[in-house]
Amino acid sequence: MDLIKAWWKEAVVYQIYPKSFCDSNGDGIGDLNGITSKLEYLADLGINVIWLSPIYKSPNVDNGYDIADYEAIMDSFGTMEDFDRMLEKAHSLGIKIMMDLVVNHTSDQHRWFQESKKGPDNPYRDYYIWKKPVEGRKYPNNWGASFGAGSVWEWDEPSQMYYLHLFAKEMPDLNWANPKVHEEVFGMMRRWLEKGVDGFRMDVINLISKDPTFPDGELLNHEYSDFYPVVTNHPEVHTYLREMYNKVLKDYDTITVGECCCTSPEVAKIYTSETERELNMIFQFDHMGVDNGPHGRWCDRRMDLRDLKAAMSKWQDELYGQGWNSLYWNNHDQPRCVSRFGNDSDEYREISAKMLGTCLHMMQGTPYVYQGEELGMTNICLDINEYEDIETLDTYYQYVTVEGMDPEEMMRYIHYKSRDNARTGMQWSAEKNGGFTSGTPWFTVNPNYTKINAASQVNDPNSVFSYYKKLIHLRKENPVMVYGKYELLLPEDEDLYVYTRTDDDTQLYVLCNFTDKERTLAIPDAFRDTEVLIANYDAPNADGTIRPYEAFVLKRSL
Ligand code: GLC
Ligand code: CA
Repeated sequence: MDLIKAWWKEAVVYQIYPKSFCDSNGDGIGDLNGITSKLEYLADLGINVIWLSPIYKSPNVDNGYDIADYEAIMDSFGTMEDFDRMLEKAHSLGIKIMMDLVVNHTSDQHRWFQESKKGPDNPYRDYYIWKKPVEGRKYPNNWGASFGAGSVWEWDEPSQMYYLHLFAKEMPDLNWANPKVHEEVFGMMRRWLEKGVDGFRMDVINLISKDPTFPDGELLNHEYSDFYPVVTNHPEVHTYLREMYNKVLKDYDTITVGECCCTSPEVAKIYTSETERELNMIFQFDHMGVDNGPHGRWCDRRMDLRDLKAAMSKWQDELYGQGWNSLYWNNHDQPRCVSRFGNDSDEYREISAKMLGTCLHMMQGTPYVYQGEELGMTNICLDINEYEDIETLDTYYQYVTVEGMDPEEMMRYIHYKSRDNARTGMQWSAEKNGGFTSGTPWFTVNPNYTKINAASQVNDPNSVFSYYKKLIHLRKENPVMVYGKYELLLPEDEDLYVYTRTDDDTQLYVLCNFTDKERTLAIPDAFRDTEVLIANYDAPNADGTIRPYEAFVLKRSL
């Protein structure tokens, strides 16, 4: 099958979480000028697009995902002139900028909400979702909020009504049933595109349309239900995204990716169809759930590799020729992949980080690298009072304080899964605070920056950085990495992830050992003595012995 070619399929995206990336003025907070100063580093790595987590004006209840003004820059990040300089320099280096579009909700400090709160007659009232109390019920429905261990409904005393917030109470949900909201959002997107930005990563985009009957969900505890299964992918979301495409995106050459948890490949095909244009790709979450437990993601169980292979392969197979995958192990909401799916011990950290990079970048889809992943940065281990993340703190409160879980048990889960694992300062050098800031960092820098940092890796041909650079480079020269068909081999093997990629004239054989065990597996005859595209040890052993966390890719012509 000949797939439709597109630059965003061939690209590699690098995610920046600005607050933790690089501080240029010593106030302890990463900023736009800090990003600008590191663009050469990113150009050297070879990435094509930066996904910039929110940089807009925000009271920072959720580190910028609570936006108070979509068209102003957060004070601590700099000014619009700083933004323009960053954009211009990025473009001059051939790097595109993808903005974070957070339009399921705003901050309660947004002007629209400030107006909306003034009462039922205010012209902005219907920009948000307000409900009257229902006789005999504590809240309009039983949905529990994502942060805050309570209802999604917040009481407003003056108007005697509730407003909806799927996330924190400071993050009220926009009312997409109101066409005025569309016009506002589309106008804002257009102004950013006119400024020259290259696309959008759309935050929790599959939540924007709510069933107008607001049905109860299945109870998780005595009071609240999980709203996700009820709210995600409500059919109207497709109408809204097509409208967004037709009214805005179609006039620009953009890259778009929607964050879509609880979504099946069937539905993803609708979002990413190349005929009914909505989005280029989505972030699915199946592989992020393979190490869940009885408390959802709050668990410290290692995944079973067979589950990971099944999750990834389902998406590889089902979207082939029908949509497009995004590929990621990491983002600002996930722990560090080397600590989670690899091995962050001194002995195996580098080799397993390279193995994970190989496994992901050889698959079909657009790969995403999260800041520090290219260095093999690891999780941190802190006391509860040292965490910053609203989700981590609220979850601790819910499980330990409210439900009585053993605090040590909860801390094990937090060390393994907290979003804050991704939010420690970027480790640029062995200098104080890893070179992230000359001042006092807003959040911990992992003390292992003395060993793990960019300065020691960029010129070392054996570093994780150099390995990622090679992976990214190989993609440009090997279209089979982008467009080839994926086939999983040995689905039941508990240690090895083996697959092939095939196009008309080339085939790749990808082998990754996800364990510290030595194994044997003969190289298939067709690949004997063929080219080694990349390997994290010198070269594969001829006798078929596979070393701990070994990864290699063999290439043959057909
Ligand atoms: C998305 C973001 C996450 C944020 C949430 C609410 O999941 O990735 O960081 O907390 O949406 O905006
Ligand atoms: Ca700063």
